[in-house]
Amino acid sequence: MKYSYQKALSCFFLFYFLLSQCQISNATAEHYRGGASSIAFATVGRPRYAFDIYSLRISDPSKELRLTDGNSINFNGYFASVSSALPFLKNYSLPSVNLVYVTERNGSTSIYLDAVHFSPSLRVQPRSLLGVSTQFNRVQIPLVGDDKFNGLVSMKDRPSLVGQSLVYVSTHENPGKPRASWSAVYSTQLTTGSTLRLTPKGVADFSPAVSPSGAWTAVASYGEEGWHGDIQELGTDIYVVSTLDGSNRIKVIEHGGWPSWADDSTLYFHRRCDDGWWGVFKAVLTVENGRFHSKSTVAERVTPRGLHAFTPAASVANKNFIAVATRRPGSQYRHIELFDVVLSEFIELTRTISPNAHHYNPFISPDSALVGYHKCRGTTSGGRTNELHVESVNSPLPNISLFRIGGSFPSFSPDGLRIAYVKSPGVYVMNSDGSGARMVSSRSAFSTAWDWKRKGVVYTSVGPTFASETSKVDIISINVDDDDLSYKTLTIGGENNAFPSASPDGKWVVFRSGRSGHKNLYIMDALDGEKGALHRLTEGPWSDTMCNWSPDGDWIAFASDREDAGSGSFELFKIHPNGTGLQKLIQSGSGGRTNHPWFSPDGKYIALTSDYAGVSSEPISNPHQFQPYGDLFVIKSDGSGIRRLTHNSYEDGTPTWGLKASVVANVELSDSESLCSFEDCRWLSISTTKSLGSSNRQCAEI
Ligand SMILES: *[C@@H]1O[C@H](CO)[C@@H](O)[C@H](O)[C@H]1NC(C)=O
Ligand SMILES: *[C@@H]1O[C@H](CO)[C@@H](O)[C@H](O)[C@H]1NC(C)=O
Ligand SMILES: *[C@@H]1O[C@H](CO)[C@@H](O)[C@H](O)[C@H]1NC(C)=O
Ligand SMILES: *[C@@H]1O[C@H](CO)[C@@H](O)[C@H](O)[C@H]1NC(C)=O
Ligand SMILES: *[C@@H]1O[C@H](CO)[C@@H](O)[C@H](O)[C@H]1NC(C)=O
Repeated sequence: MKYSYQKALSCFFLFYFLLSQCQISNATAEHYRGGASSIAFATVGRPRYAFDIYSLRISDPSKELRLTDGNSINFNGYFASVSSALPFLKNYSLPSVNLVYVTERNGSTSIYLDAVHFSPSLRVQPRSLLGVSTQFNRVQIPLVGDDKFNGLVSMKDRPSLVGQSLVYVSTHENPGKPRASWSAVYSTQLTTGSTLRLTPKGVADFSPAVSPSGAWTAVASYGEEGWHGDIQELGTDIYVVSTLDGSNRIKVIEHGGWPSWADDSTLYFHRRCDDGWWGVFKAVLTVENGRFHSKSTVAERVTPRGLHAFTPAASVANKNFIAVATRRPGSQYRHIELFDVVLSEFIELTRTISPNAHHYNPFISPDSALVGYHKCRGTTSGGRTNELHVESVNSPLPNISLFRIGGSFPSFSPDGLRIAYVKSPGVYVMNSDGSGARMVSSRSAFSTAWDWKRKGVVYTSVGPTFASETSKVDIISINVDDDDLSYKTLTIGGENNAFPSASPDGKWVVFRSGRSGHKNLYIMDALDGEKGALHRLTEGPWSDTMCNWSPDGDWIAFASDREDAGSGSFELFKIHPNGTGLQKLIQSGSGGRTNHPWFSPDGKYIALTSDYAGVSSEPISNPHQFQPYGDLFVIKSDGSGIRRLTHNSYEDGTPTWGLKASVVANVELSDSESLCSFEDCRWLSISTTKSLGSSNRQCAEI
């Protein structure tokens, strides 16, 4: 190595000690120290987000360079200036890129600094820079991370380096209020590790941007009103605070997100306009007595109607252009473009290089020479190219291991050795270490469950998902240990019979059915289905669904909208199988969604998915998610003591809780055809502009 990075590395590794305030409180941790067990879950699209950060030279945008390692999930980058932040880079003579970014490694998020060395005069081809001799070409320096904190901290939004402080978003502090976002902006002094929260308590901030001088940080924030379930535009306002300590907080722009500074008083930001198009705006802030003035800011729209332009990146050295992500009519893909703010012209960048890929969240180097962004690396990167079929995720709770599987509705067999799941279309069974996956039905199915007594018997429902009460959906059992699989249809009439869960004595199956015109719970004979015996468990003009039978046989937990039928708001309840003892377990604030309860093997806890922690980033900065607020939580089986398990801006859902607690290793799918095949935000899809006027009704449909 030409330069001495060893000292720098050892110095920077010290920074892991920060954020030590977020330890599990003794009392709570104690409650979860049961027998060892595992929770497996699914995350919509996530196994396919093999993101890396790339850059283009603005003067010659034909050569795309991958800057990150081609192995981790790397996103939301920021070019740190060579001169300012890091003393150890001062004597560095070759041109280099100093990239600060978010990285997910082994199931937890960190912020890294990569110093990538290359000489433009050598015209280094992307491939020779990657993979090989990374020691020489790239130095990776972890800045802050949760490796030492068991999944309790999580960074999502783009970080900034100012002086020797890192400014970033983390979701590790519980605001103590259901359905409030945990996102807040922090500043960590990298030489000492001392960390300051810049966001006031009780407020959520997203998408921070530090001004060129470092004095100010702009954020998108709800202010006091909080989150209302938005998954398209969050409806945030832009606030500016002093980067030093979060003081002088003032609202400078009503209705806007994703701020970016061109100079210390000029901000670009995005908002969805009344005409339905997302557009980028420019605001010149007024300063009085060294402080910003809230009232008089005038914002002008800079990008035209007729296409979506969002997530702007201002350019500091050359103020004539900005970078934006766009969705053009007729295109399914999100691309990075420059926009000349003087001539009002777009210059397309990524469409010519990779037309059929989504490109996210551009950022520009301090000298305005490079534009960076992230996209899925595909199968040509030289790094890991396969989708992860099983991915170990850091768990904040002792004795509970956590892993994500590349399918949905997983369920553990009673001995914990196998997992059934669905992957459209079809039902699969694999060993719980991810090996030996095989299809046991090719039909479109959802929600699997195992019989407790008859080995190898799996229940599922076949038919369309998210369907009306009268849709043709029936519950079947499959004996996955039989050569002919012994399929058996248990319900009759197909009136949306779904979410089977078997009683521990092996005699009964509880399920939900739309046969009365409403989705309510019923119990039928496990062997002969409803022909053998059928009892109605719940009754009312609402939806009861996603039922799970407790291991001691005494309770059935389920999700219901009975308190506000048809509103889309779901809470968890439990009831005895004989219909007595109904109890509400948890509600995620008014209008909230809590779903998919699953009892722990000892019956003392319930895993669930919920919007209890709001959203963790602006949804438009991510690929499409149906429920970007979905995170996993655990409660005690009386509904108390909620603990957050995952911190995502994706939909983590459909947990199952099983007996096995070995640490699960990552398992790759050998067939990687599907890597990178995920959707951009569906609500950006626009075929014609005419329907947009009608207040986004078309866009609101998901
Ligand atoms: C937690 O445990 C530590 C050490 O075991 C002890 O010093 C501390 O007082 C405990 N805190 C609480 C809140 O019980
Ligand atoms: C994990 O569970 C085992 C078995 O119940 C127990 O002996 C052990 O103390 C637990 N460990 C932790 C860290 O809770
Ligand atoms: C940088 O170079 C100067 C002179 O060449 C030297 O005095 C200084 O110690 C160097 N700084 C570092 C951090 O290596
Ligand atoms: C993940 O963990 C494994 C085993 O602990 C380790 O070998 C590997 O380097 C880690 N991967 C990353 C990207 O940190
Ligand atoms: C209903 O079942 C519960 C336990 O499953 C039992 O404690 C209770 O006595 C039963 N009630 C009736 C009326 O049978």
